[in-house]
Amino acid sequence: MPPDPSRHLAFIGFMGAGKSTMAELVAQRLGRPWFDTDHIIVDRCGRSIPELFAAGEEPRFRALEKQVIAELLAAPPAVLSLGGGALEDADTRSEVFERACVVWLEVPWGDVRAELPALMQTRPLLQGRSEAEIHELFEHRQATYARAHLRVRAPRGDVAAAADHVLSVLAS
Ligand code: S3P
Repeated sequence: MPPDPSRHLAFIGFMGAGKSTMAELVAQRLGRPWFDTDHIIVDRCGRSIPELFAAGEEPRFRALEKQVIAELLAAPPAVLSLGGGALEDADTRSEVFERACVVWLEVPWGDVRAELPALMQTRPLLQGRSEAEIHELFEHRQATYARAHLRVRAPRGDVAAAADHVLSVLAS
């Protein structure tokens, strides 16, 4: 059986887990539309996320993130990739868990740590933070991610195989 056609499928997880790539692939396999919250925000603002954060506009980014997710949840069921911090907002968190089948792409701290230099280039939230502070942020978010309906180890190589795995678990 395919995943409940009346519900969205939402991918969550820490920065660098590969949510967008996975969600796009799963959407293709299911023949559903795919929406990535970060992409929509960048389109609406006409500025990149690093530019927004550098201009001190994280609050605007977070407000838009909340608004975009509310809009997506109200639209017909799709496959969504959410920014790693999207569920920090309590309203968004309860709406997403209520209205979507939520899949956590779980990355072990060791993998995040190994990729920190690359991640810090593109994720402004990590810039200027020590490794200990990033680890604290990572740990803080685990409890929310762990509420997901399904937990899958983030693929490090074969994303297509990982997407097939997600679909087979959803179908079982
Ligand atoms: C963020 C994660 C990013 C992006 C922004 C903030 C976060 O998305 O939304 O830089 O707070 O964890 P990815 O999880 O896709 O990197």
